[in-house]
Amino acid sequence: MLTAQDYPSSLVCNLAQIDMILVGDSLAMTTLGHPTTLNVTMDEMIHHSKAVKRANSTCFLVGDMPFGSYLTPDDAIRTAARFIQEGDMNSVKLEGGRSVAHLVKRFTQNGIAVIGHIGLTPQHVNLLGGFKVFGAKELQEAMDLWEDAKALRDNGASLIVLECVPEKLAKLVTDNLGVPTIGIGSGPDCSGQVLVFNDLLGIYDKLSPKFCKKYLSLNEVMVEAVRSYKDEVERKEFPVSKKHTFVMKEDIFKKIEPIIKGDKSAHTITTKEKKEEEKKELSLGEMKNIVILGEGAVGSLMAATLKKVSSENMRNVRLVTKRSGESKIIKIKTNVEEEQGLKKEEDQDVEVFDAREVENHWSKSIDLLLICCKNYQTEGNLTRFLETLSKDVKIKCILTVQNGFGNLEKILDVFKAKNLHIPTILPISLYSGVKLNFEESKFKELTQSISQKILLTVPSILKDTDIYKLFTSPPFEIKQTISKSSIFKEKTFIDWEKLVINSIINPLTAILEVKNQNIINNPSIQALAKSLTKEIVQILKLVPGSLDWVIISNNTIEEAVLNKVLHVAKTTGSNTSSMLIDIQRKNMNSEIDSFNGAFVKISEELKLHENSYKLNKMIVDMVKAKTWN
Ligand code: KIV
Repeated sequence: MLTAQDYPSSLVCNLAQIDMILVGDSLAMTTLGHPTTLNVTMDEMIHHSKAVKRANSTCFLVGDMPFGSYLTPDDAIRTAARFIQEGDMNSVKLEGGRSVAHLVKRFTQNGIAVIGHIGLTPQHVNLLGGFKVFGAKELQEAMDLWEDAKALRDNGASLIVLECVPEKLAKLVTDNLGVPTIGIGSGPDCSGQVLVFNDLLGIYDKLSPKFCKKYLSLNEVMVEAVRSYKDEVERKEFPVSKKHTFVMKEDIFKKIEPIIKGDKSAHTITTKEKKEEEKKELSLGEMKNIVILGEGAVGSLMAATLKKVSSENMRNVRLVTKRSGESKIIKIKTNVEEEQGLKKEEDQDVEVFDAREVENHWSKSIDLLLICCKNYQTEGNLTRFLETLSKDVKIKCILTVQNGFGNLEKILDVFKAKNLHIPTILPISLYSGVKLNFEESKFKELTQSISQKILLTVPSILKDTDIYKLFTSPPFEIKQTISKSSIFKEKTFIDWEKLVINSIINPLTAILEVKNQNIINNPSIQALAKSLTKEIVQILKLVPGSLDWVIISNNTIEEAVLNKVLHVAKTTGSNTSSMLIDIQRKNMNSEIDSFNGAFVKISEELKLHENSYKLNKMIVDMVKAKTWN
């Protein structure tokens, strides 16, 4: 056990795999700068408990009941309940033996796990006349300690902290009590040990108790670092141009420079002009020449729908096939169940081209390249396609149907490797759980059956484009739009919900070769889904914003996510997951790297202990084993 008082200290405990964290009232001294532990209030304890919880959900968390918060039984139960409900703690600790035994009983009767604390009890510092060892010199003190320990045990305390109890007495009590003890300054024979985080790291050096081992002198290191910062700023050595700074476009700089310098003749940019400029920058313009890469269910559905919404715009919509010499017009029949407000769709004629012929069919630009293939096919398909184009064909915008993690980065890498002009690359995401059957008859006519609206996540920047209608026309419907700023974050990902659901349903059904409904019906598969959900949620708790989609009512975040997964497994019950289809078709690849592989990658980047992502790692290896050839 170690104390933690805020997010960073708790994160350190998590990464170091400490079993139990105590949000101790010692934070009054080490963190809030009070002379004793008596000054910290319950509201402050809750504030700190919440921060500790945010970084840590694997540890057993204990809230330390502060001085004055358990003077009466009613106060005590209210305080304990606040720690559990508001502070999200697993248990509470209170100081005292026989005097608080009745409170311990009341807590346990109400389902609250309690840890006792005897020996030196810092909340009694004024009565004790200082911090001192307890039970070393007087038989009565040793007898009192034993009676206190028994009273706590008999009334239901789960553990007992022994503070500053002589080594031999602590061993005697531990060996004979029948309830585990946690020692601080009480020797090696207690069942467990606790220290104060700031003491152990040498951050707090006002008081240096004999029993505390300082594993680091962090205070000195920190003072040294802060001093260096101050010196470097004064000497103008920090920040370093380019290394710690951001660059701006030269033409913007040239415009702003005379304005800021007060050059009256300079052109003053009005707010309206600024807006116009921004719009121009964002505007993707007209999208007349459209190529779709990926001739599967999604690609052909996009093609047919685009054709439908484009009849008046004279757009060129071209689906690219890998098969050579297959250029032709095919009929895409979209059979839509007439429920849920979906209307029966007309058939659309879509031109399908052999990649090598596409270029001959228009001049110099592709306004939009829609990449609708699976993540693991993106790199190869895009590279092959680009090789068929001459260098001067410019691609204005790429929209990629992102299934799993890392697709944008892959596309970017292809353009960088080929040293080509990099288009605007935007992700869209098809919400999982759509039922899309795809039948193919000698590739002359494709028939699709759609039984639900197909929900999409799209970047809001597309609202200004003339193809936005594509995403709002049945069977498509926009589930959410995301802002430009969130797309261009360093880690570009737009649909965490889909990633989580895909990473549970797909691999489990693929490894066990079952339909989605088995996740609900088979208790053992459901147990696997639960464990996997738990591990994924723990990882995502460390990725800001990645769990924002989870709606928690009376349950924990893990339960809420699992419920969502089970709901999708139910609504898609008779479906064979796409990963299982890959395995059944004996494909030598699958989307596992973009699904569970993403959690392994994130964990490695966060330098988490390998135990924190072992299930995901194992799942990746198992799916790869199944697709290995
Ligand atoms: O508040 C605290 O840190 C404690 C430990 C010393 C056990 O109570």
